[in-house]
Amino acid sequence: MITEEIKEEIKYRCDIVDVISAYVPLKRAGSNYTGRCPFHSERSPSFTVFPSTKSFYCFGCGAGGDVFTFMMKRENIEYRAAVELLAKRAGIELPPDNEPRSQDSVRRERVLNMNREAARFYHACLYSDVGKAGLDYLTKRGLSGAVIKHFGLGFAPDGFGAVTSHLMRLGYTAEEMSSAFLCGISRKNNRPYDYFRNRVIFPIIDVTGNVVAFGGRVMDGSLPKYLNTSDTPAFKKSRNLFALNFAKSKCAERLILCEGYMDVIALHAHGFENAVATLGTAITPEQARIMSKYTKQVIISYDSDEAGQRATSKAIKLLTEAGLDVRVLRIPGAKDPDEFLQKNGSTAHEKFKLLLDQSRAQFEFKLESVLARHDISIVDERIKAAAELCSIIAEVYSDAEREVYIGVVSDRLDIQRDSLKNDVKRIMRSRQKTQKNEEMQEIIRKTSGFGDSVNSDTIKNVLAVSTEENLLGILLLYPENMRSIKRGELKLSADDFYSEFNRRVFSEMMNRYSEARQFDFGDLAEVFNPDEMGRITSMLVRRQQLTTNDSVVLSELIERLRSETKQKRLEETGDQIDLINEILTKKGKKPRQS
Ligand code: GTP
Ligand code: MN
Repeated sequence: MITEEIKEEIKYRCDIVDVISAYVPLKRAGSNYTGRCPFHSERSPSFTVFPSTKSFYCFGCGAGGDVFTFMMKRENIEYRAAVELLAKRAGIELPPDNEPRSQDSVRRERVLNMNREAARFYHACLYSDVGKAGLDYLTKRGLSGAVIKHFGLGFAPDGFGAVTSHLMRLGYTAEEMSSAFLCGISRKNNRPYDYFRNRVIFPIIDVTGNVVAFGGRVMDGSLPKYLNTSDTPAFKKSRNLFALNFAKSKCAERLILCEGYMDVIALHAHGFENAVATLGTAITPEQARIMSKYTKQVIISYDSDEAGQRATSKAIKLLTEAGLDVRVLRIPGAKDPDEFLQKNGSTAHEKFKLLLDQSRAQFEFKLESVLARHDISIVDERIKAAAELCSIIAEVYSDAEREVYIGVVSDRLDIQRDSLKNDVKRIMRSRQKTQKNEEMQEIIRKTSGFGDSVNSDTIKNVLAVSTEENLLGILLLYPENMRSIKRGELKLSADDFYSEFNRRVFSEMMNRYSEARQFDFGDLAEVFNPDEMGRITSMLVRRQQLTTNDSVVLSELIERLRSETKQKRLEETGDQIDLINEILTKKGKKPRQS
């Protein structure tokens, strides 16, 4: 158990502004601090830290909470882990964790142990008789014994019960194996059978050294070429990168992002240990954010076919949004890095190094691809090319960079700099306008409760829910009001709440207050998830910005909530009577009176 005192002490020593500053550059704004939100991409800062309530809130995306919630969201960890992390930072020793652990963490650990056993088994197979075909295949593709060992590559034999019977002997159940995607369950006889068969195996290892998943490649031209582990209790495809466990300590300056496992392995084998790949899917925003934690620059090194080039454009966008400096590698005379390295034999390292140094900034990549699509000796085409390029330049954030690009385009297309400059400005202005409009729409959408995933009752009674939020906001800001509620001086109970979510928040607050005689809103993170915490923080923050939060306002809000809830309940029964009448009328019967 972590007591209130310990948490208070951690919060006291880990100043929320200090902690968040390590992730987000903050600027002082009055008594608060603002910065660009780390949880969604934005250009103008709507992320705010409030030292007085030790909380943060983003007016753009609704993320919010206390310093523990921040760490949970930012590092993708659970509440206990966030407390442990900050305790370490504050130099506070935590008592051992005696509580029974959640089922999730037990399952996760089982899956990880099972994966490790499976990886050992596959690796051993590669060096036994059954695995000869696998070892021959990998050797033929130019991998040395040392590289095979380094990556822990393996072989899944061509039977239905190789790895499954091995894992059964170690005490794992069919259900566990199937949740780890190591086996399927036969529909005929309900028995487990190996998921990977007659394939070479690429284990996927996370940055802490756990075997989290596998990729399996056929050794001939059959399909599907690769099978990959789907999401399991221990693995999310969209949050992992192949070989980041090796690359993480070699990539402070730059990372090389490839498409395939084989590209990464070949690069590492040739001394480029800063190469990673996504896991058989297009790059996700989460992966971009993870890369931005480890490096400053990403060199995209995708296949040179059309699919690879399309994927490159998408990756440029996501990586740039994550704040990374992005470059694109062009590989002449080969379809991918693996092939390039194979072709160049003993000079492969040097040649690839040269390519890296020549890798083009993303603007040049785009410039060349626009120019390749237009014959600029024709006036019309030249205008079209200029328009496309201005629209690309308008996306660039830095003034100086835009200036340089405008110069390049001016030279290449023989168009006056000033005309280009004006066009770019116009595009930027109109985009800003649309962006503002979209933000407004988003706010309207959120406040009207449409698609409100945290509080799905909002849409049914916007007024009542907004009253509830104001009311809870005051209680969050001044928890001592809960004492008056407890004593019955202020008449408010869970039943007065219209929406289930706010009723839960209220009950949880009252329980905690009654037990501990004090209340810290951040503790709600133990029972509410980060999205819900964001909503709760918004209630606090919005009231905090208003000047009057006294007991008179509170009483008024309670009155209003009562009447709104009552009226809505009446309306709802009223609606039902209307509905019954409609049906009766349709059937040719006399309507009832309500
Ligand atoms: P080689 O063809 O052996 O050089 O493999 P590669 O790693 O270069 O693969 P390729 O460029 O064909 O594909 C890139 C990545 O996409 C692979 O590493 C896999 O992660 C993934 N991939 C390829 N084929 C499939 C498939 O059939 N199914 C799935 N799920 N993923 C695939
Ligand atoms: Mn390949």
